[in-house]
Amino acid sequence: MHMAERFDEDSLRAVGVRIDAEHPEGIIFDPHQPQLRVTDLAAVRGDGIFETMLVKEGHVRKFSAHLERLQRSSKITGIGIPPAESWRAAVARGLDEFRTRSGLPEELSVRLTASRGVDGEPASEDVNFSGTYWALLTPVPQSVQASRGNPISVALLDRGYDATAAERAPWLLLGAKTLSYAVNMAALRWASEHGHDDVIFTSSDGQVLEGPISTVLIGSRGEDGRVHLHTPSPEVGILPGTTQATIYRAAEAAGWTTSSGPVTVEELRGAQFLWLTGSVKLVSPITRVDEQEFTADPEITDQLLQFLTQEG
Ligand SMILES: Cc1ncc(COP(=O)(O)O)c(C=O)c1O
Repeated sequence: MHMAERFDEDSLRAVGVRIDAEHPEGIIFDPHQPQLRVTDLAAVRGDGIFETMLVKEGHVRKFSAHLERLQRSSKITGIGIPPAESWRAAVARGLDEFRTRSGLPEELSVRLTASRGVDGEPASEDVNFSGTYWALLTPVPQSVQASRGNPISVALLDRGYDATAAERAPWLLLGAKTLSYAVNMAALRWASEHGHDDVIFTSSDGQVLEGPISTVLIGSRGEDGRVHLHTPSPEVGILPGTTQATIYRAAEAAGWTTSSGPVTVEELRGAQFLWLTGSVKLVSPITRVDEQEFTADPEITDQLLQFLTQEG
């Protein structure tokens, strides 16, 4: 079969950059050719960590925040990772490859992956290069760009552990962005089969957690017109969202108020406005949670999207 028949146009244009001890600034590879050993723990056990970032007009958004979270995941999982300069150089190399090959698309998603590597065979004596590392740059499909800000319906799904699990059971790796996303993807399929676009996970003791690939944001507009934003805090075993953090900084500068802390399912159901936020989808207003309708405020949603263009 011809390549063009197997891959859609966006993935066909993808560029890969591998990082290893011999190529700390990255070396280009063809992501449509085999690259990973079948014994790599990323493939065998999903034992790796990753970040997904947005590149708009050649600028990587929130690069430092993503590298900091990758470092946090590295610490939690004990997977050594190359220094920040390596990742930055590798991504720059990938962007250059696009420029010389087909021109830079308006938007790219960049996925940084660090695998623990092949069991018992470290790729290098240097712990920061002992695993398998790569960046994958893929054009963001037009459909994803066009869907930003569109209202969505979400299912509330039980994640199966209580809100203290992160503290009680560190081996669950809650709060690390690991490759083990099979459960997250299964939840999204379940939601889709039941007529929803997305998911909000809840803990077994009734706390609101996060989406499978997004952060939950709750909003209210006071009588004076001021907007207040609230989000569940990472202590409940969720990822600290870089999109939410960027929104908070810009919102505070604009005179809005913000907070983070526990959110019960009842509080979620009583909220005025709800959104899911993430690095590539950016902001999606929620207009249905299970069977309950919510109103969207297009003005606030536009403002949230605007906040994300301002920095980082
Ligand atoms: C589980 C989970 N929570 C939250 C997020 C949102 O994080 P960010 O805003 O940094 O993309 C993601 C992003 O993929 C995620 O996978």
